[in-house]
Amino acid sequence: EMSNDLSKQYIMIGKDRTVFTSLYLQYAEKIKSFEVYNDDVWVATYPKAGTTWTQEMVWLIANNLDFEGAKKSLGDRFPFLEISAQFDKKKLFEKQNLPIEDYKMNSIESAKSAQRPRFIKTHLPFSLLPEQLQNGTRSPKMICVIRNPKDSCVSFYHHGALLLGWQTSLEKFAKVFLADKSMYGSYWKHIFGYYNRRHYPNLLVIKYEDMKSNLPSVIKTVAQFLDKKINEEQIQLLCKHLSIESMKSNPAANLEEFTGMIRALNLVVKDGTFIRTGVVGKYKEELSPETINKFNEWIKENIRGTELENEDIF
Ligand code: A3P
Repeated sequence: EMSNDLSKQYIMIGKDRTVFTSLYLQYAEKIKSFEVYNDDVWVATYPKAGTTWTQEMVWLIANNLDFEGAKKSLGDRFPFLEISAQFDKKKLFEKQNLPIEDYKMNSIESAKSAQRPRFIKTHLPFSLLPEQLQNGTRSPKMICVIRNPKDSCVSFYHHGALLLGWQTSLEKFAKVFLADKSMYGSYWKHIFGYYNRRHYPNLLVIKYEDMKSNLPSVIKTVAQFLDKKINEEQIQLLCKHLSIESMKSNPAANLEEFTGMIRALNLVVKDGTFIRTGVVGKYKEELSPETINKFNEWIKENIRGTELENEDIF
């Protein structure tokens, strides 16, 4: 159970004390020295911020709405840099007697060798990004999505419970989340790491809540950022493609290859996908009033005196 077993499975890495599996240490050097290209497009988020949704949007805008090309799975079009450091695939596959060759062995290699321009997803905080991104010697376009932490927390919990077989309760998980001890660690360190750099010309911060309330406007912003032209008709087509119903039933966009893999590994106790309800403020139905109060205090403390105070997502 994640909340009781942190010390065993997880370690804290770097100056932000990012919570990660100890397996990360085997990949740390490769991530640090990962070669970045200026024509890459990166999507960097705290988990459950709407990463998958954003990836599909970004990929389609950058590829001039190539809906045919988008039939290839998102995981292949847009590799997830550090996923190999999250799971010991080899061990898991051996345990189930599954042929490891059926699945990509190493996500860092897949990202490295992806056809250019590459599209790369990461949940790493800014402080753990490849050095060339941190020191600015390479400056590919990066898009960061932020989302209200109460909804992210609830979404994170369901991800664990539905996909990864966590036995814990939402209330227990919320405590872990509030203590910065869930996977990827502190929500605030993560958000500020990117948000404070939002004036960099190569970094765009968008909000999940804005995508929900006005997707066409976010599409326009992202298109402009990527130097792409998009007309009203194309925006309508893209919105339709990106609707939750259509993405949920689209095996190329719902990360079916990932859920399929964990199903094959017998890790799943329930049926789940990356695409769930997609509702803003759903936490109100799921978190106890006490926990919501704790969250509100925690939010107030952390945004006080920062520019996040002016954001409307909290
Ligand atoms: P919920 O669990 O609140 O429903 P990530 O991709 O970062 O793991 O984020 C997953 C969250 O984004 C889930 O939130 C999921 O439902 C939501 N999401 C995915 N696709 C979406 C879409 N097309 N429209 C709205 N929300 C979407």
